[in-house]
Amino acid sequence: MKTLVIYTSQTGFTKKYAEWIAEKTSGDILELKEAQKKSDSFFADYQAIVYGGWLMAGSTVKVKWFLNKAASWQDKRLAVFCVGGSPNDNPDIEVTLKKMLTDEQRKYIRPFYCQGGFNYEKMNGPSRLAMKMFVSALKKKKDQTEEEKIMTKMIATSYDISDIKYTEPIVEYLEKP
Ligand SMILES: Cc1cc2nc3c(=O)[nH]c(=O)nc-3n(C[C@H](O)[C@H](O)[C@H](O)COP(=O)(O)O)c2cc1C
Repeated sequence: MKTLVIYTSQTGFTKKYAEWIAEKTSGDILELKEAQKKSDSFFADYQAIVYGGWLMAGSTVKVKWFLNKAASWQDKRLAVFCVGGSPNDNPDIEVTLKKMLTDEQRKYIRPFYCQGGFNYEKMNGPSRLAMKMFVSALKKKKDQTEEEKIMTKMIATSYDISDIKYTEPIVEYLEKP
């Protein structure tokens, strides 16, 4: 199955997952900016297309582009993965994946989550500022649960919890005969 991986990444985590998936499926890889320049006939060559975007405030960046395109790609194997700073077992992830697709889209697109991390060194100014404000609001919050305390500490500095193993279900799904 000829596979295409399209991604949007700010600090490199989604790019790394996209590269892992492309490598494992022997597929092609394109940054969204490049994919947006391609004509419809370019995509006709692929039997499987996956989009990866990073999570910003619970939404997958630029996923709308993929969802619009995907409506006319229903004969292909389609997946979307998002990459965030939350660990895979965070209960918010299920909610995020649920709201990403409509019931109709869920019939032909499979959603996945891959834990990434935070890289403050590579983040742009507005993102760094947004995170600073978010962390400071969390710190001020009274009656923090133990989980919130751990999370507040965790996201205050850079960390990397990405792992190639989180690509396994995606690759398996894309390659399913
Ligand atoms: C403004 C902002 C909002 C974010 N919101 C979320 C979020 O809702 N959930 C989450 O898990 N991670 C969130 N993150 C963390 C990023 O999704 C995470 O750092 C991701 O690994 C970045 O991927 P990238 O390296 O491909 O850009 C947020 C980061 C920023 C800067």
